[in-house]
Amino acid sequence: MDVLDPLTDGHGRRISDLRVSVTDRCNFRCQYCMPADGLPWLDREEVLRFEEIERLVELFVALGVEDLRLTGGEPLVRRDFPRLVSMLAAIDGLEDLSLTTNGYLLERDAMALVDAGIGRINVSIDSLQRDRFFQMTRRDALPQVLRGIEAIAAFPQIHPIKVNAVAMRDFTEVEALRFAEFARSTKFQVRFIEFMPLDADRSWRPDTVLAGEELRAMIDAVHPLEELPRKPSATARVFRFRDSEGEIGFINPVSEPFCADCNRVRLTADGRLRTCLFSLHETDLRGPLRAGADDGELEEIIRAAVWRKELKHRINEPGFRRPARTMSAIGG
Ligand code: 5AD
Ligand code: SF4
Repeated sequence: MDVLDPLTDGHGRRISDLRVSVTDRCNFRCQYCMPADGLPWLDREEVLRFEEIERLVELFVALGVEDLRLTGGEPLVRRDFPRLVSMLAAIDGLEDLSLTTNGYLLERDAMALVDAGIGRINVSIDSLQRDRFFQMTRRDALPQVLRGIEAIAAFPQIHPIKVNAVAMRDFTEVEALRFAEFARSTKFQVRFIEFMPLDADRSWRPDTVLAGEELRAMIDAVHPLEELPRKPSATARVFRFRDSEGEIGFINPVSEPFCADCNRVRLTADGRLRTCLFSLHETDLRGPLRAGADDGELEEIIRAAVWRKELKHRINEPGFRRPARTMSAIGG
């Protein structure tokens, strides 16, 4: 496909990062995402087929997207998922192909994912203590997940491997130093992500957020940290330990919004384009795609939607309205 004018939004931001949710289903039930009983899942026909995802990603890449992250739900529960990875890895112009997973099936799939051409992997781990991991994810799966990251770490070409922990008030405080020790003693980069109002249980309140700065200070008091330079579009502030190997990062979307430098858009499992995690409006791409739209027509729909990308989220403003979808349906 030809290279077209790069995608930009109405606020002058270049869009170069696409996140694709490949399924809304998940084998975990994390407190900050799903209810204990799960959610009503999409029907099979509603979910984009691999060929449809491939077609849309090709178009986005022609429009200047360089980084693609595959998310869910839990991507590895989608049947034959490594085949999709190999289809997407073959797209010319894609520079970075990464995956966010809860790690439960990584031990099973590590080799297939590497063979398929995955570049980088992020694994969500909210606690390094088995009972607290269970409390947060509602699955007693920490040993399985740790075997998963070890399985992927056996492939040095997958680099870096990041561990993401959602930071919640009255839960994550006691995890901070353990994660710091983990980051110091392994090659995994640990990142704390502030809890955002995207949980199905609607338990988010401003005071349930544990600010990244608070965690940083707790760690810095024991293991002095030094900030590393970052790209403007990077969401994490990353630090190294002054006295050892290892890196630790903080993604602070609530306390330090990074919307001004946002370069991302998202495609849901049912083929809707979301220009912000907190969009109240989404654009259907599956309908036109299945109705036979050509690339030019799809391009026009995408450009128009991206042009209207939200300036910023309004979590901290009065009258903030949460999107109807939860993280599992949007794609982290
Ligand atoms: N707030 C912050 N992060 C969340 N995630 C899921 N739900 C939330 C939320 N409400 C994270 C997961 C995973 C990534 C896809 O998004 O832990 O790391
Ligand atoms: Fe599943 Fe991820 Fe949601 Fe947890 S956060 S329930 S692993 S989709």
